[in-house]
This record gives sequence, C-alpha cells and structure tokens, in this order.
Amino acid sequence: MNTQNIRLRVWDLPTRIFHWSLVASFAIAFLTAESEKLRDIHVIAGYTLAGLIAFRLLWGFIGGGYSRFAEFLPTPRKLFDYLKSLIDGKPQHYIGHNPAGAVAIFLLLGFGITAAASGWAVYEDVGGHFLEELHEGASNGMMAIVVIHIAGVIVSSWLHNENLVRAMITGWKKLRNENSAG
Ligand code: HEM
Ligand code: HEM
Repeated sequence: MNTQNIRLRVWDLPTRIFHWSLVASFAIAFLTAESEKLRDIHVIAGYTLAGLIAFRLLWGFIGGGYSRFAEFLPTPRKLFDYLKSLIDGKPQHYIGHNPAGAVAIFLLLGFGITAAASGWAVYEDVGGHFLEELHEGASNGMMAIVVIHIAGVIVSSWLHNENLVRAMITGWKKLRNENSAG
C-alpha cells in the first residue's frame, strides 16, 4: 500500500495555539527579565505562561488523540528503546511525540511552573534570596531545555525527512511506511 499521500491530523488547534503562545510568552518573559522598567510586561508574560501551562496540564487529560499525556508518557523502557534505535541507526518513528521529545516537554512544563511560582513569590516579597535564585535557575533551566528541544526538532525532522515545524503550525503530517513505533 502506498501510504505516502495519506495525511493525518496530529496536533489539534488548542495544542498548536498553546505551543506558539508559550513560545511567545517565554521569549517575552526572558527578554524583559533584567529590566526594572519592563517589569510589568515581564510579570504579565510570566502569568500568561503559567495560564498556558495550566491549560496544557488539563488538556493532557481531557484533550484528544496525540495531545493526551497517556499517549506520550515517556516510560524508561520506551525511552531506552528509542535511544537504542538512534544508536543503531534505525530511528523509531513516532506519529506523535517521541519519548526523548516527551521528556523535554515534561521538563519544559516543570521548569515553567517553577519559574512562574517562584517569580510570583519574589514579586510578592515572600522573602529569601533562595527564591530569587530559584526563579533565575528555573528560567535558565527552561532556556537550556528549549535549546535542546529545538535541536531535537531539527534532528528529528532530518532523520525522518518530515517537517515537524510545519506539523506544529498546520496540525497535519504525511504518513510514512517506516520503522513505526507509535
Ligand atoms: C520558548 C520556546 C519553546 C517552548 C517552551 C516549546 C515547548 C514545546 C512543548 C511544551 C511542546 C509539546 C507540545 C504539546 O504537546 O503540547 C513542543 C512541541 C514542539 N515544538 Fe516547541 N517549544 C519552543 C520552541 C519551539 C520552536 C522555536 C520550534 C520550531 C523550531 C518548536 C517546534 C516544536 C515542534 C515541531 C513540536 C512537536 C514536536 C514533535 O513532533 O514531537 N518549538 N514545544
Ligand atoms: C515564567 C516565566 C518567567 C521567566 C522565564 C522569568 C525569568 C526571569 C529571570 C531570568 C530573572 C532574573 C533577572 C536578573 O538577572 O535579575 C527574573 C527576575 C524577576 N522576575 Fe521573572 N520570570 C518569569 C515569570 C515571572 C513572574 C510570573 C513574576 C511575578 C509574578 C516574575 C517576577 C520577577 C521579579 C520580581 C524579578 C526580579 C527578581 C530580583 O530582583 O532578583 N517573573 N525573571
């Protein structure tokens, strides 16, 4: 069967809007972080990011298809098999998030929550130098994972000869006959 022309709806609209809004709010929060003058914008971007993550946590349970957490929960077994397939030069293909990408996603959500919660605590003068350190650490941690995430997207697009960025914009992927894992 020729599956080359079969198109599949992978990312629903809420997930796509969530993704690109998260990118924008994180970028704004990060770029305005150092400035006292831009603090209001920083705080608004930070709260927006928190709201987006709250939505995504809900959507992971009530949303559909490939957006559900149950669909891409990265168990150690799945992660190991996936990494091994990369080393063996026969990368497993996932229609939704692959297990390594999924680890990055959960880390991004975790760092995002920590950055927003500690940012709130610093802003409300809860006190303690530790909170400032935590806030900056979580934000930098998130930035590090973002870099890895983008590299992963580029490498994975190249390995499977598919345009993952376009899929996160349009929602559609072309189905292929290859080393399919899910
Ligand atoms: C601040 C920067 C970014 C953050 C915080 C971020 C976060 C995320 C998250 C949380 C997901 C999971 C989507 C979901 O199921 O809800 C995701 C997926 C994805 N992101 Fe990003 N992202 C960022 C930047 C980017 C950029 C710049 C690109 C494009 C080059 C990109 C491309 C993608 C793609 C293609 C996926 C789907 C990956 C797959 O097919 O498994 N992301 N991102
Ligand atoms: C969630 C996304 C956020 C990111 C990525 C982020 C990032 C950062 C970074 C990197 C700094 C350190 C700037 C420096 O070097 O002094 C900072 C400072 C700060 N952020 Fe955020 N932030 C976020 C959310 C928030 C939120 C939601 C609030 C308040 C409700 C907030 C309030 C503050 C305050 C008050 C400071 C100054 C802390 C100080 O005096 O050291 N941030 N932010």
